[in-house]
Amino acid sequence: MKLRTMLLLFLCVAALAAAQEPDSVKERRMQWFADAKLGIFIHWGIYAVNGIDESWSFYNGLLTYEDYMKQLTGFTASRYDPAAWARLITESGARYAVLTSKHHDGVALWDTRLSDLSVVKKTPAARDLIGPFCDALRAQGLKVGLYFSHLDWSHPDYPHFTRTEDRYVGDSVRWNRFLEFHSGQIGEIAARYRPDLFWFDGDWDYSAAEWRAGEMRAQITKWLPRAIVNSRINGYGDYDTPEQGVPITPPQSRWWELCITTNDSWGYQGNDRNYKTPNQIIRILVDCVSMGGNLLLDIGPKEDGTIPPEQVNILQELGRWTRKHREAVYGTRAGIPKDYFYGPSALSKDRSTLFLFVDGQPAGPLLIKGLKNRINRAWVVGNGTKLETKILMRQYWSRIPGLVYIDVPRQVLDPQVTVIALLLDGPVELYTDKSN
Ligand code: GLC
Repeated sequence: MKLRTMLLLFLCVAALAAAQEPDSVKERRMQWFADAKLGIFIHWGIYAVNGIDESWSFYNGLLTYEDYMKQLTGFTASRYDPAAWARLITESGARYAVLTSKHHDGVALWDTRLSDLSVVKKTPAARDLIGPFCDALRAQGLKVGLYFSHLDWSHPDYPHFTRTEDRYVGDSVRWNRFLEFHSGQIGEIAARYRPDLFWFDGDWDYSAAEWRAGEMRAQITKWLPRAIVNSRINGYGDYDTPEQGVPITPPQSRWWELCITTNDSWGYQGNDRNYKTPNQIIRILVDCVSMGGNLLLDIGPKEDGTIPPEQVNILQELGRWTRKHREAVYGTRAGIPKDYFYGPSALSKDRSTLFLFVDGQPAGPLLIKGLKNRINRAWVVGNGTKLETKILMRQYWSRIPGLVYIDVPRQVLDPQVTVIALLLDGPVELYTDKSN
């Protein structure tokens, strides 16, 4: 058997093995991710020099490719302090972060051996920016995620560079050459940085077969058996990545992560002042937690590596809230349906503590319907005040549980979102009988 055939055979077997990973093994592999709830996304690249759309600005013709690439000379990373980044990320309450190792523009933030287009070779930064980031995160006990764009609008063998070329139908020489480069760069990242999470992007131009996504996934599993891979690898990922749209009803997939910007831009854009308030972001985080997902909140450092003060402020206020309410956030699972409580809620892993998230100032007592459990204790999370629960409408002849009312006094309210914990007499049980 030829070496190439043997290799292909091996990869097919490995792909099959990866596809057949037992649920319990995947559950364990996904554990840290399921418990983390909050991650910080970081879009950092030469686009921060002019403060323009990452990669898309030249793709969409807002400036020429040549002018876009002139930003290389202005990217200094002169005040890059990855330890300070890691401290801020920790302070926000995030448990992992994801940095763009290479965006669609093809500029690598590490010293890739496979191309000259890196911040190391082509910018005044002149050094690897990924390694120090990974080290700083790990020193703080944070998980390391690396974003990598499959498509590369700078590579001479990638057809969308000029946009005058169409898909490579039948041009397998160039496509194979590109795929070799593509898997080579992913291999470099895996070997050098051993990320806990591969956050891929830009798989939309080609099918899974064309990308050889199955083989790539098998290869990653072989290199890093515990690594988690996001969905943007044509069906071979571990979890879904809704983007910018807060899900209305709980997504069907077991694991998911909503990624959003703090203003309207992924990378740094000085002109974009449309920041969300900490309150708006905390409520989005609460929505994710209540539906069993994660929030990946994006920041865009400037070209020198400093983080704009508005973004620092958001992360700090987020941190105040997550620290106070940690028991209602980390390791929790989706809450009860809104038919039972008109608001977001979450459950502890053993399902016997129910957390109710209360926006603003409630005009009257909270109400829970259809709760079969007895409530052993109710208190305000992060404050400790015990609350009374009042049950009305419980009839001895009816199986429908009574209505639970809980008064939340004004003085215990959190300026953002207040959390009420209910310790139940066992795993939550809801009345579901449709007959009456
Ligand atoms: C989209 C955009 C990209 C951005 C990403 C973040 O795929 O193409 O610019 O980095 O979303 O999720």
